Amino acid sequence: MKTVLTYGTFDLFHAGHIRLLKRARSLGDRLIVGCSTDEFNALKGKQSVFSYEDRALIVGACKFVDLVIPESSWQQKSDDIRKYDVDIFTIGDDWIGKFDHLSEETGCAVTYLTRTPDISTTDVKSAIQQLCDEKKRSILGAVDHLRQCVDRL
Ligand code: CTP
Repeated sequence: MKTVLTYGTFDLFHAGHIRLLKRARSLGDRLIVGCSTDEFNALKGKQSVFSYEDRALIVGACKFVDLVIPESSWQQKSDDIRKYDVDIFTIGDDWIGKFDHLSEETGCAVTYLTRTPDISTTDVKSAIQQLCDEKKRSILGAVDHLRQCVDRL
């Protein structure tokens, strides 16, 4: 029985998250996901759209995930690895090299998975913002047009 552990915020759950979790699960027999709490995100300078409770609910509903635990500090990883008897720690390659020390500290394997290109929570937020801006511009245009019509009366 091989246990795999990964961490992330997983806000606005998207295809890049699914692909990461699918590959993480395929490294072993059980996948545990540490989902960053709102307080920990604040510490990292991140603000998620969905609350920790909702993000944990969504990640836990993914068929590749066996257990969701809260991630509330940078230091907890070694303790989690020992507590859950983790064999493999994995995370996207945006973190490459950053967690190699876990291998020396705990003896578990550390592997980095290639990120899915062209998608991120940041991109999704920008796309939504762009749609809102376009909508706003078109409403303002319509209001301006109406004003000109009224002025001509
Ligand atoms: N991930 C991935 N491919 C993507 C986006 C994320 O493999 N296109 C992975 C990350 O490398 C990480 C996990 O999914 O291991 C959770 O990433 P998270 O930071 O929650 O998602 P991002 O979309 O990267 O969020 P942000 O834009 O806020 O950084």
